[in-house]
Amino acid sequence: MRAYDIIKKKRDGGELDEAEIRFIVDGFTAGEIPDYQMSAWLMAVYYMGMSAEETVALTKCMTESGDRLDLSGIKGVKADKHSTGGVGDKTSFIVGPLLAALGVPVAKMSGRGLGHTGGTIDKLACIPGFNVELSKEDFVNNVNDIGMAIASQTGNLAPADKKIYALRDVTATVDSIPLIASSIMSKKLASGADIITLDVKCGSGAFMKDYQGALVLAKTMTDIGRMYGKPTHALVTDMDEPLGHMVGNSMELKEAVRVLSLKDVRSAVAGDRGLARLVEVCVKLITIELMLAEKAVKMGIAAVTGDDALETDKIAEYEARVIEAIENGSGLKKLSEVVERQGGDASYIFEPEKLVVAPIKVPVNAWEDGFLTACRADEVGMTNLILGGGRATKESEIDVSVGVEILKCLGEPVKKGEPFAYIYAADESKVDEAVKRLSGAYEISAVNTAEHKLTTPVVKEYI
Ligand code: URA
Repeated sequence: MRAYDIIKKKRDGGELDEAEIRFIVDGFTAGEIPDYQMSAWLMAVYYMGMSAEETVALTKCMTESGDRLDLSGIKGVKADKHSTGGVGDKTSFIVGPLLAALGVPVAKMSGRGLGHTGGTIDKLACIPGFNVELSKEDFVNNVNDIGMAIASQTGNLAPADKKIYALRDVTATVDSIPLIASSIMSKKLASGADIITLDVKCGSGAFMKDYQGALVLAKTMTDIGRMYGKPTHALVTDMDEPLGHMVGNSMELKEAVRVLSLKDVRSAVAGDRGLARLVEVCVKLITIELMLAEKAVKMGIAAVTGDDALETDKIAEYEARVIEAIENGSGLKKLSEVVERQGGDASYIFEPEKLVVAPIKVPVNAWEDGFLTACRADEVGMTNLILGGGRATKESEIDVSVGVEILKCLGEPVKKGEPFAYIYAADESKVDEAVKRLSGAYEISAVNTAEHKLTTPVVKEYI
């Protein structure tokens, strides 16, 4: 086999078999196929796409390129949730502890942030002492003992994806549905959970800018999961504006703690659009995982893989259980147990004011009366990056204390001279650029063309 022939076949619209895909993936991972040939192949895939069979084969080759976590030592049906990346996405800190509190073991492998999106592992660094480098033994024991563990993804989990992703990042080949689907699913499958729930973001802050693309990505990923015998469901959720009010590591963790501390969820979200969006996405994600996990406990994983339909008439009942687990404080307690077990200072969970927020608070004011009608959510993420809260390169150090607080959501009215957001900076010299960038991310119009955004952030359920 020659890389040249495989590149040419794909370039000309041919369908590759598993052996050809394995030749390319293994050869590149081993350093035998050079970057220029892999780049050409990726660009051919970008333009010509991949069939379902090719996408599954690519996922398989990347999954098998490194370690596969064996979670069989964890009792019960293990659940994992993955988001395709967005701005202000702190759902892992809410979904994981609530699921664990509801009796579903959560064995979560997470990554660091890059570019305009934040990473779960960076947010955990806000808690003094929190150890994300768990041995396999501790990871398994913690889930068995307290129901949840969260650890940094090991370097040898799908190493082929790691190397290919780095090349995609610099060759403008990231936003290809088969490449994204196989990249995400190879890591999920290597991470060993029994049940996978996917939050596919759609909009200006997401990889997939439009609904059709997000839906195809969601379907491609759920098909891959199911083909591998893992009950897999997805939601498509709105990322045309940040999720919740807070963007920035420490501030996002604080907001997650705020959600887990709510005593009356319905009244809290009634007049608070940002909070309502965040709570709704979390509740829907947990509901899917809980329904699938309980079905699998009753019927066995194999049976659920063959029939993973959700009992839609029971959704309201499950959602009520999730809300109850927030209101009775069991989710918050579970998060504190995880923090304590992993060496962190759990007082930060019960006294979130200890989470450090940068001292320079600057309002970002509306420049005219009207409604917020458009947002470039990626630019809100970039504002956090400018302030020092994100990574421009893998090696960048980040300041967890900086961030952005969004007061108003799309479709809400604003008044000239009044703030619709605040910037929290650690360094005066970054303020002007950050304010400019954040103002530039929003549009204000006299006519409310974003009124439809005041409905649900869940664009498509139960895929
Ligand atoms: N996240 C991933 O892990 N891979 C992609 O290709 C895109 C988002």
